[in-house]
Amino acid sequence: MALACGQHDLAPMRILVVGGTGTIGSAVATALEAHDHEVVRVGASTGDMTVDIGDKESILTLYADAGPVDAVVCAAGRAQFGSLEELSDDDFAISLGNKLMGQVNLVRCGLGTVTEGGSFTLTTGDLSQKPGAGTSAVSMAGAAVEAFARGAAIDLDGRYRVNVVSPGWVAETRVKMGLEPEPGIWAEDLAQYYLDLVGGEETGQVVDATEPKR
Ligand SMILES: NC(=O)c1ccc[n+]([C@@H]2O[C@H](COP(=O)([O-])OP(=O)(O)OC[C@H]3O[C@@H](n4cnc5c(N)ncnc54)[C@H](OP(=O)(O)O)[C@@H]3O)[C@@H](O)[C@H]2O)c1
Repeated sequence: MALACGQHDLAPMRILVVGGTGTIGSAVATALEAHDHEVVRVGASTGDMTVDIGDKESILTLYADAGPVDAVVCAAGRAQFGSLEELSDDDFAISLGNKLMGQVNLVRCGLGTVTEGGSFTLTTGDLSQKPGAGTSAVSMAGAAVEAFARGAAIDLDGRYRVNVVSPGWVAETRVKMGLEPEPGIWAEDLAQYYLDLVGGEETGQVVDATEPKR
């Protein structure tokens, strides 16, 4: 029997976690498994399966090979940091092609493949709404993902749910960079936001995840 997922009792699902070998995605995968879900960890070069979200054909191949899927979480997506003068055409193209269109295409290509009634949970970052120096490409791509999710949720209402988790700086990432973990959020705490969106009924939500859920 499935454990309660957030506030919800949920039948076990088969869930693709794209970026499931990374800092955030591996914590999300572990949390979903603890609630009896079957998780397929998808990485760029490691994991149960691989995909390049920057390549739509690769996403189509992933869905074709994955078999039945009830929900998709994406905790992957590259965007380039750098000052406006430093950012090249390629830097903008990577940010748009990977962080933005990679996640958009995970949703588009999943329609009709992911079980109807299922969900897509995407990832941006708090820089999307609170830019800082050197974040114009990162903030642009993240804000566009959030706008996409709100719009897609309207079109897909009743068929699929689309939501976004917007994490703050992750504590493990700060530690890897030689910083104090505070004020980061630990990936295990962040995973709760994904768990609740996968198990919930919300759609078109962009959830701020800078602090552990109370
Ligand atoms: N960490 C933070 O502080 C933080 C804060 C806010 C937002 N975010 C966002 O959250 C997302 C995940 O961050 P993270 O720190 O968990 O990253 P991470 O530890 O670097 O992990 C990245 C994951 O994405 C996979 N991946 C990389 N390129 C890919 C591609 N082209 N197609 C498919 N999968 C790909 C990696 O697979 P391999 O392991 O096989 O390479 C890995 O599973 C990113 O979009 C990041 O911008 C992170």
